[in-house]
Amino acid sequence: MRKKVYIINGPNLNLLGKRENDIYGNLSFEEYFEEMKRTFPQTDLFYFQSNVEGELVSKIQEVSSECDGIILNAAAYTHTSVAIADAISAIETPVVEVHISNVTSREEFRHTSLITPVCRGLILGFGLNSYSLALASLL
Ligand code: DQA
Repeated sequence: MRKKVYIINGPNLNLLGKRENDIYGNLSFEEYFEEMKRTFPQTDLFYFQSNVEGELVSKIQEVSSECDGIILNAAAYTHTSVAIADAISAIETPVVEVHISNVTSREEFRHTSLITPVCRGLILGFGLNSYSLALASLL
């Protein structure tokens, strides 16, 4: 049966391809998303991005009942958001946490994730391929 997976990206990830290219690479997420859809034609993939914490919480709640998995890069909110952690705890749908960079090799404040304990798993440090690896883990 076809699976339905949502990718939810947090703040500043709308700037991928333009933002700190040495860390995040040169591709926009839209470009990478097209590539993902070609690589995983058997999966229904959806993408949402917001810079607003509450919108991310609402989206997690909204899509949880209608999909088989969520791939979440909460970006900077990873390190601060009790609200996003609570939203993940509140749903049954598996959530895979993703980071483009290896946050553990960066500044100290990026070493803490409030969402890792409530996620199914964590993939980080493989550039945008972290998203495809997360998807493979859900299929
Ligand atoms: C990030 C890492 C976060 O620390 C940072 O705030 C981001 C992106 C990553 O994908 O590597 O915006 O989540």
